[in-house]
Amino acid sequence: MRILITAGPTREPIDPVRFLGNRSSGKLGMALVNAAIAAGHQATLILGPVEISPPRAARTIHVETTAQMHAAVLREFPSHDLLIMAAAVADYRPKTVADRKLGRGGTMTLELQATEDIVASAASGKRPDQKVIGFSLEAESDVARAREKLARKKLDMIVFNPLRTMNSTTISASLLYPDGSREDLPEQDKDAFARTLLARLDAMFKA
Ligand code: C5P
Repeated sequence: MRILITAGPTREPIDPVRFLGNRSSGKLGMALVNAAIAAGHQATLILGPVEISPPRAARTIHVETTAQMHAAVLREFPSHDLLIMAAAVADYRPKTVADRKLGRGGTMTLELQATEDIVASAASGKRPDQKVIGFSLEAESDVARAREKLARKKLDMIVFNPLRTMNSTTISASLLYPDGSREDLPEQDKDAFARTLLARLDAMFKA
C-alpha cells in the first residue's frame, strides 16, 4: 500500500517570533512510518515541527502551519491508498498575524479563528478505493466524542486514545468503526501498537 501519514503538531504564528502550538512529540506517527516500511508498504510522511528525526526510508515533507499541512495532504493524497492522520493539528489560528514583533504591556487579546479540518476535507474528497483514518485523544471516559468525530468527519476508522497517551511510551487504544464495532487493544508500546494498527488496516483493504 501507499500510505500517507501526518505526524507532529502544527504551529500558528502570532507574530514573526511567537506561535500557538501543542505538545505533540510526533513519536506515534514516527512509529507508524517505521511499521509501515517494515511491513513492505510505501510511506510518505507529512511532518510538523518536532525534535526527533524522521526515518530515512520515508519521503518526508516538512510543514509548519495547518494551512501548509492541509495543502500538502490534498496534494499528496491522490497518489496514496490510505491517509493516517496522526498529527495534532492546531484547532485555532490568530485571525491576523502581526508583521512586527509585538511589545509587552497591560493586557492583550488575541482573536482566533478555527483552522480547516484537514482529515474531514480529505475524507469528503476521497475515491472509493481510498481510506482515511483519524485519531481522537480524549479524556478516559469520552469514547462518545471519538464516535461523534468518526461520523462527522466521515472516517473509515478512528483510534480513540486516552489523554495519558500523550508523552507516554505506551498507548491503550480502542479502534472504532463506522458500523458501531469496536476493538479494545491491550496497553502496549507505540511500536507494537503501530504494527497492530497496520495489520488491521491491511485487513480492511483486503475485506
Ligand atoms: O482535534 P480532534 O480531536 O478533532 O482530531 C481528530 C482527528 O482530526 C485527528 O486525526 C486530527 O489529526 C484531525 N484534525 C484535522 N484537522 C483539524 C483538527 C483535527 O485533520 N483542524
